[in-house]
Amino acid sequence: MKKIVNEIDIDNKRVIVRCDFNVPIKNGKILDSSKIDAATETINYLIEHNCKIILLSHLGKVRSEADKQKNTLKPVFEYLKTILKTNVYFYEKTRSLDLDNKVKGLNSREVLLIENTRHEDYPDKLESNNDIQLAMYWSNLGDIFVLDAFASAHRAHASTCGIAKFIPSCYGFLVAKEMANLDKYVNHPEHPFTIVMGGAKMDDKLALIKTLIKKCDFMLLGGALANTCLKVLGYDIGSSLASDKPEILKEVYKIVNEYKEKIILPTDAIIGRSYDANFVDYVTINELNIDDSINDIGVKTLNQYREIINNSTKTLFMNGTVGKYEDKRFANGTKELLEMIKNSPCTKVAGGGDALSAINTFGYQQYFNYLSTGGGATLEYIANGSLIALDVIAKEN
Ligand code: 3PG
Repeated sequence: MKKIVNEIDIDNKRVIVRCDFNVPIKNGKILDSSKIDAATETINYLIEHNCKIILLSHLGKVRSEADKQKNTLKPVFEYLKTILKTNVYFYEKTRSLDLDNKVKGLNSREVLLIENTRHEDYPDKLESNNDIQLAMYWSNLGDIFVLDAFASAHRAHASTCGIAKFIPSCYGFLVAKEMANLDKYVNHPEHPFTIVMGGAKMDDKLALIKTLIKKCDFMLLGGALANTCLKVLGYDIGSSLASDKPEILKEVYKIVNEYKEKIILPTDAIIGRSYDANFVDYVTINELNIDDSINDIGVKTLNQYREIINNSTKTLFMNGTVGKYEDKRFANGTKELLEMIKNSPCTKVAGGGDALSAINTFGYQQYFNYLSTGGGATLEYIANGSLIALDVIAKEN
């Protein structure tokens, strides 16, 4: 049975919360705190219920001693101290006798953040391989495990899946909210349902496209996803980014032919040229040379996408971006799309790291009804309707 943190007896307990504090940090400064902010509802609830709270999270990948120095949760600790109205402590190791004592010494309503769980990945990959001893060790720190790291719930790691096997477990509010919103807006949307999708890797997104194409009325594509579709339709896409795996191209060919009414592809583009970093030009889609690469959608494509978003859309889901928006010369398509989305009265939802980062960069957060905190996890949840760590909790309880 699935349980949410407010459905179980949690008062005065020692509670381990697996959060996702994997946030961008530069020179010790957090660049986007939204994932941490989203975790506070559960933490504050536990504070109100007089719990002793132990927080776990990963940060980046740890493959060397240098990664350990670089990927420390200290900046997150500093930030948590400013937003939580309680004593917050940080423990600089992921396990030790001293840590056991620190946990024992916690008072009710106090919070202890433990260092990056992936420090256990060097040298032996214990966290990522869901090492049973490690999971057992962490589980001994608490009475109850709360999974609130939706963005990491597609990982079968010791801190996401392992702990739940040893102590009573439940979902946090963020996980519950993500599931409810993605189910409502994306898995059971109001029609007409339009998907705006882009990104650099068709191979990673094919499963998602296969699920969503059946549910949506229109799929407006950009980036390498669109390039791959154009390629299988016989267009010369020059040096543009696209999949070259025969098995992927075969599947894409099937999809573009079966759903040609729904899939809308760019008819014009802003291009770059492989041997000239300063080159920028506008072309229609059948005018590309061998060294040209499609880096953004053009004005005719934008007009076509505008028509659909304005006149035939009740729910819109955005994933990925339609151009290389980090480069000013190729940002117009993504910006214009966000402006169209803002002005449309439809319900707007976005998920996936790149879409969120573009939305944050251009300041469109407030115009969306829901922004999922997950990257790969959100895509997998939509594609499969489940995630491994969520399933473990549902099964163990
Ligand atoms: C994310 O940023 O998508 C999550 O924190 C998962 O991170 P990972 O891809 O390093 O597991």
